[in-house]
Amino acid sequence: MKRHYDFLVIGSGLAGLSFALKVAPFGKVAIITKKELTETNTSYAQGGIAAVTYAPDDYEKHVQDTLIAGAGLCNEEVVRLVVKEGPKQIKELIKWGTEFDKQASGKFDLAKEGGHSEHRILHHKDNTGAEIQRALSEKVRNHKNIDIFENYFAVDIITQHHQGHLVKRRHSNIECYGAYVLNQETGRVYTFLSKATLIATGGTGNLYGSTTNPQIATGDGIAMVYRAKGTVENMEFVQFHPTSLYNPGEKPAYLITEALRGFGAILRTANGSEFMHKYDERGSLAPRDIVARAIDNEMKVRGDDFVYLDCTHLEEKALKEHFPNITEKCMSLGINIAKDYIPVVPSAHYLCGGIKVNSHAQTWIKRLYAAGETASTGLHGANRLASNSLIEAIVFADLAAKHVLSTFKDYQFMEDIPDWNDTGVSHPEEMVLITQSYREVQQIFSAYVGIVRSNIRLKRALDRLEIIWTETEELYRKSTVSVKLCELRNLINVGFLVIKMAMRREESRGLHYTIDYPPDTGDLNLIGKKNYPDY
Ligand code: FAD
Ligand code: SIN
Repeated sequence: MKRHYDFLVIGSGLAGLSFALKVAPFGKVAIITKKELTETNTSYAQGGIAAVTYAPDDYEKHVQDTLIAGAGLCNEEVVRLVVKEGPKQIKELIKWGTEFDKQASGKFDLAKEGGHSEHRILHHKDNTGAEIQRALSEKVRNHKNIDIFENYFAVDIITQHHQGHLVKRRHSNIECYGAYVLNQETGRVYTFLSKATLIATGGTGNLYGSTTNPQIATGDGIAMVYRAKGTVENMEFVQFHPTSLYNPGEKPAYLITEALRGFGAILRTANGSEFMHKYDERGSLAPRDIVARAIDNEMKVRGDDFVYLDCTHLEEKALKEHFPNITEKCMSLGINIAKDYIPVVPSAHYLCGGIKVNSHAQTWIKRLYAAGETASTGLHGANRLASNSLIEAIVFADLAAKHVLSTFKDYQFMEDIPDWNDTGVSHPEEMVLITQSYREVQQIFSAYVGIVRSNIRLKRALDRLEIIWTETEELYRKSTVSVKLCELRNLINVGFLVIKMAMRREESRGLHYTIDYPPDTGDLNLIGKKNYPDY
């Protein structure tokens, strides 16, 4: 069964929805999303969205903060582009109905987070992402040119490969004609044909047992593009958020926003000592890679399961007004944040690398764009600056929209595409084959590919992942397509790329820290020299 849309959007977070709204006046749009429209990483974002608004902040300061956090691997042109475009896109968000907190003076209430030299984070209380998602979801639901397909799962993008042609990596003529998409209710796979496609499938936090990401974050877009012979880069740079609530077994791990440290909260060891100044002069507000490593080290040296975040010296009324959701969440576990220390641990949070795109958000594959966490734009380098992800998502979705609107009329639907072929396959008899492998992948990554790495750990991870890969590919060939099996397969694909790229990077840089290569003490002049080619 075929469906035709000018624009196919896979993913309903900030990147997907903002793109959809911008192209919808010019053609028919399908938004494919694997759960409900609002179940996205975007909805979970707490701290806010970074953009320059008032003096004493200026573009140059935001640029420099981003470059410093990125440890020498940012693409400076892209950094300047995002910083400059950011304020315009904030206006779009407001136009679409997003509300950001303001002070009595009418000015935005700007927060500060790790690595920022100024207060520049626009926010809505401590649930900024949910507010953005609410506003955009309302807009797309009411747009006559947009059809929303909830509980539809994109399995693979369609290229010449599906017409029986040999498609090789780095061939410059690969084109995307749409995607095969599973309707989870009926179990049928539809052929969505498009003139242009945007991948906006978000991150891959579920590679790890403990992550702030919801279940949807399984790297599907990256795996799909890699299978289709597109290019992927910087996968070794997995960001761990320093402070998720220590509450073993809770999934996803509940985030305690960095904005709380920007508000004055201090990290302490289990015996109450402040420790961050031992590691960085910026203390608890150093960039995320440094704070996460420091916590990891303190926990390992002391044999503790967590460290504490201390807000007890902060003014109670203001604290609870600014952070109502964190207050409520902690209270539900018997922690009064104004009086008790909050136990926190690092958790996998964000993928800096992904599908390589240029400054029009074009991937290597023609008619295929990528934006948001799934894309590697060059903004983050080896470590993302806090709250630079939402702004990147909306800026690159806008760049993609502008580019596609100038080209899509030249493209025809490719009708000569076979239906999904599932002859000779059957339902997997035992789901445990999938669920246990999924758990094993997470264990491998948590144990061997975490905040601190080594050659031997990476090698172990690769050897073990290879076994699971062989078993899963065999199962996939024999089975009818299912979300759980596809997600497992995608995680394994993406996991391979993380390990391979980590093994290739023979240095410690940003989020990739390995005990086998002494850390580089901030030599930013290595730009370019250590920037390895994409895969
Ligand atoms: P997402 O919002 O993750 O959306 C991905 C979409 O793709 C979902 O709709 C999903 O269902 C869909 N999808 C995935 N695979 C498939 C498939 N195979 N088929 C169909 N649909 C699919 N960043 C900031 O800048 N500031 C913050 O304060 C901040 N706080 C955060 C707090 C938390 C707890 C988390 C988890 C992240 C936070 N981030 C923050 C990061 C930021 O939220 C994300 O990077 C950003 O929202 C990603 O947006 P996106 O549109 O790329 O993807
Ligand atoms: C947070 O609120 O601490 C998360 C911010 C981010 O991931 O950018």
